[in-house]
Amino acid sequence: MLRTHTCGQLTKADVGSTITLCGWVHRRRDHGGLIFIDLRDRYGFTQIVFDPKDKELFAKAERVRPEWVLKVTGDVTKRLEGAAREDNPTGAIEVRVAEITVLNEAKTPPFEIDQDKGVAEELRLEYRYLDLRRERMRKNMVTRHSMIQRIRRFFYDRDFLEVETPILIKGTPEGSREYLVPSRLYHGQFYVLPQSPQQLKQLTMVAGLDRYMQIARCFRDEDQRGDRQPEFTQVDVEMSFCEPEDIMQLTEECLIELTREIRPDVRIAATPFPRFTYKEAMERYGSDKPDIRFDLCFTDVSALCKGCGFGVFHKAVEAGGVVKAMRVPGGAKFSRKDIDDLTETAKIYGAKGLAWIKVAADGYEGVPVDKLGMDMTKSIADAAGAQPGDILLFTADAFSVACTSLGAVRTALGNRLGLADPTLFAYCWVNEFPMFEKDAQTGAIAAVHHPFTRPLHEDRHLLDSADPLQARAVAYDIVLNGSEIGGGSMRIHESDLQAQIFKILQIAPADAERRFSHLLRAFQYGAPPHGGIAWGVDRIVMLFCSEPNIREVIAYPKDQKAKDLMLGSPSAMPEEQIQELGIAIREEE
Ligand code: AMO
Repeated sequence: MLRTHTCGQLTKADVGSTITLCGWVHRRRDHGGLIFIDLRDRYGFTQIVFDPKDKELFAKAERVRPEWVLKVTGDVTKRLEGAAREDNPTGAIEVRVAEITVLNEAKTPPFEIDQDKGVAEELRLEYRYLDLRRERMRKNMVTRHSMIQRIRRFFYDRDFLEVETPILIKGTPEGSREYLVPSRLYHGQFYVLPQSPQQLKQLTMVAGLDRYMQIARCFRDEDQRGDRQPEFTQVDVEMSFCEPEDIMQLTEECLIELTREIRPDVRIAATPFPRFTYKEAMERYGSDKPDIRFDLCFTDVSALCKGCGFGVFHKAVEAGGVVKAMRVPGGAKFSRKDIDDLTETAKIYGAKGLAWIKVAADGYEGVPVDKLGMDMTKSIADAAGAQPGDILLFTADAFSVACTSLGAVRTALGNRLGLADPTLFAYCWVNEFPMFEKDAQTGAIAAVHHPFTRPLHEDRHLLDSADPLQARAVAYDIVLNGSEIGGGSMRIHESDLQAQIFKILQIAPADAERRFSHLLRAFQYGAPPHGGIAWGVDRIVMLFCSEPNIREVIAYPKDQKAKDLMLGSPSAMPEEQIQELGIAIREEE
């Protein structure tokens, strides 16, 4: 090695020894005739000092600029009284340099490495290798590594086998659009990149490997958001002969361990993690990933509103919909502008509007009050538990629109009023998701989780009924502070049940055979009952690092338009390479 120590290593115990360090010039200060440099590497910072007595050495140090790469040899000395820095592990010492080698010079970086603020994200992503030199990013990378290491150890200790499943696979749609890879040897044919190793992990259960795990890279060509990337990482798990309880307990145990080790400063809101059915979560919080760090629960006032004087409410109930009320303590002070902003939020999720009633000690205010009349207003307010000083917010619509739009208002209020305690980790489970959903635009039926998910035993008869959309799945999501950090299910292991599900999904037998013959065939050779889960590593690390989006915890992420600004991908390819693949590029019109 070129060095004897790292920049995070030297302490008082090393005073008197002669050492060699390598690193980057983080900061340089000229002070009292001396030159001080904070030399930085992955492990920390060490203060190195140049004395003007050695003229040649000092002249070399004077040339040095930020981000130059140096090798220095010198003696470790104790810092002067008052100059010690307790916040830095090497803060008690400094190195009096006797020899310096400039290993490399550096251009002036496009942004300052020693500051964490105000740099445009495009610039950070374009120069990611410089961005990763910053302390915050370095810490995030280290936390990510530690978490993955601990997760692996957790599963290895419990007899899980890490099996690497292929990245070039067959098109096996699970819901999102897939990335295609054209084959050079078979023109017109394609591999696809896995959305998840779902089918391969199920085949691994048929293979009898019993307990599988993998830190798996997944690829999905979907619209980008703060918590989504085109490629992301899962902790992917599958078990044979298990029940949902086994998967949930394993998940809880690992997440509790991780939280205690990585974030000893936070409190876990409740163990065992609370569980809600999908219906309960929607009813109460208007979300299938509720942030339960704060209350703002909903009350269903539909029964009261039946035939009431306010047309918006009674028409919604008459049409088979619901009226949902959310009590916001202290909300009577909301301005018109506040309420208008919340209404816009509700509208994004399909609500036609947001009704409101302010509660005072001596009466009520708000559009529906006159129409409802005093008695009915009081009944509704009492049902919602309203107190003087509160505001009640209402949506009236079909169940899912009324719940999701009020749920979005709840989330917005949580953020705006700072209701969520940042020192709390509130995990919860949401289970019993519906098996199927109808696409609002095409009317097509799709699997909510994926087509391999098992229906609840007591709902099996619904599969043959006129309305299979009522069937619920043995599927569960794990949620942390309002983010879905994982999801899984018990699987179908019988080819006849799998064929029945494909039929409901309107996948014709020939089509099912073409797309899923590997799975259907495998199920005929003794498939064990099995189930599993996948956790979104990037989202979990993001929450553990208190970062606002997953790009901050991924070394080389894509931007929000799915581009890699550092590598410049996607990019055009040489014509010969395209031709070799038997592909012609159509000019854009
Ligand atoms: P699912 O599609 O729910 O399930 O994915 C599991 C978890 O992966 C994370 N995730 C993402 N993270 C970042 N960017 C994305 N684009 C992205 N998409 C999903 C989420 C999510 O909860 N095969 C099943 C799992 C199973 O049934 O075992 C699956 O992939 O945190």
